Amino acid sequence: MAVAVQLLPLLLLVASALAGYTPRYTPDWDSLDARPLPAWFDEAKFGVFVHWGVYSVPAWGEWFWYYWKDRKDPDAEAFMRNNYPPGFSYADFGPQFQAKFYDPKKWAEIFEAAGARYVVLTSKHHEGYTNWPSPTSWNWNSMDVGPHRDLVGELGPHLREKNIHFGLYHSLLEWFHPFYLLDKQNNFTTQNFVAAKVLPELVDLVNRYKPDLIWSDGEWEAPDAYWNSTEFLAWLYNDSPVKDQIVVNDRWGREDLCKHGGYLTCHDKYKPDTLPKRKWEMCTTLDKKTWGYRRTMESNDVMTELEIISELIEVVAYGGNYLINVGPTADGIIPPIFEERLRSVGSWLKINGEGIYASKPWRVQNYNDTINVWYTTKESAVYAFFTSWPKEGVLFLASPIPTNDTKVTMLGVPNTRVWSGDTGVEGIYIALPLFSQSLADMKIWTLRLENVK
Ligand SMILES: *[C@@H]1O[C@H](CO)[C@@H](O)[C@H](O)[C@H]1NC(C)=O
Ligand SMILES: *[C@@H]1O[C@H](CO)[C@@H](O)[C@H](O)[C@H]1NC(C)=O
Ligand SMILES: *[C@@H]1O[C@H](CO)[C@@H](O)[C@H](O)[C@H]1NC(C)=O
Ligand SMILES: *[C@@H]1O[C@H](CO)[C@@H](O)[C@H](O)[C@H]1NC(C)=O
Repeated sequence: MAVAVQLLPLLLLVASALAGYTPRYTPDWDSLDARPLPAWFDEAKFGVFVHWGVYSVPAWGEWFWYYWKDRKDPDAEAFMRNNYPPGFSYADFGPQFQAKFYDPKKWAEIFEAAGARYVVLTSKHHEGYTNWPSPTSWNWNSMDVGPHRDLVGELGPHLREKNIHFGLYHSLLEWFHPFYLLDKQNNFTTQNFVAAKVLPELVDLVNRYKPDLIWSDGEWEAPDAYWNSTEFLAWLYNDSPVKDQIVVNDRWGREDLCKHGGYLTCHDKYKPDTLPKRKWEMCTTLDKKTWGYRRTMESNDVMTELEIISELIEVVAYGGNYLINVGPTADGIIPPIFEERLRSVGSWLKINGEGIYASKPWRVQNYNDTINVWYTTKESAVYAFFTSWPKEGVLFLASPIPTNDTKVTMLGVPNTRVWSGDTGVEGIYIALPLFSQSLADMKIWTLRLENVK
């Protein structure tokens, strides 16, 4: 890193001489925020998040170590007392993280069937254990301890074979790393941890796996000047092997959330109720209570297909991406209830995805009268998603203005729909097909309106 930063002026000269006029990003937010977001990300709309690590062994939730040892949470303490021998340490979970049934090809097939256009895998969570053989995570990585495999490296090629973009989650902080605790004690005026761990690992991840997305997290205790985030991003955007396609989020320092970076995540499960000015993403999790796998998960804790699809259309109507999380078991199994939810979203997207992928927000995003309607647009079409079926079988859309050439079709149903309305005047009535079992199974329906205003 330090070398790359020092070479910057020289590289700038060489690059501009070769390419004529190559824009260079400087390590400040004015410059970095001005970088156009690579188009693939906005077009993708739907991704799957995967939280997997040593915390999948106790399977209490991904924050287990912290709740147990820092907060001294009574539930976490009781969990250890009741289930493990005295003296059992968090590090003792490491060898039990076996990933015996980890089949990255099968994972990729499930994600493809889900209709996901990107996947974000935890390369390292706040516990510090790396899911790849990091040379700077001695004895706390997936090659030395547990699976003895490169979990990150095995997944990437299978995703890419299916044209799914490969993203990596990476936590800047590590709760209990001694260098991090030292820097924290120094009020982040020293960078021992950043020099020894954070920057080498970020650069290693980029050079080895050439991810399309870095989903940064764990930034909140320290300013970006401590993490050297802007220096890292300038390298990433100017000189890294992924400079053209890489996308990053906004979690790069405690002052940056919802302000700076490639796109905005704001807080977990963020979902605005107006149209944001910048590209954003809502991340959420199928198990409503945790991100990592939880042994005590009950079927009622899991989002329903209707909840997932409802959220997806809201998010996309407001110009966001929807990233939905699964927590695999320590064995590497995606629990069947998650798989089933993902596949059902995928079946819905097979029919209705035309109005989702690569769409843009329309001039109206939502109209919620008797029937709740969400809109997107793509090319010359407007897509209206509606979430309940009108009793008389006639749907009134208050916002579109029909023209003489207006054509209405329902995705997945042959035959153009009959509509009426006054051309040039807001409002259109659409005669829907007869309600059937297969329509009931669809849960949320999509109309394509051509030549409306
Ligand atoms: C720590 O640093 C911040 C600025 O980064 C400053 O506002 C704060 O007063 C410092 N705290 C201590 C205890 O030195
Ligand atoms: C962070 O960036 C500053 C400014 O370029 C540099 O002086 C410092 O050495 C960097 N720190 C690390 C840990 O690379
Ligand atoms: C739409 O309206 C219904 C009833 O008025 C309400 O219950 C629902 O929360 C609204 N939905 C949204 C997304 O605003
Ligand atoms: C729409 O059709 C009506 C009736 O045929 C015609 O009078 C009107 O000029 C048409 N409007 C446009 C914009 O073509």
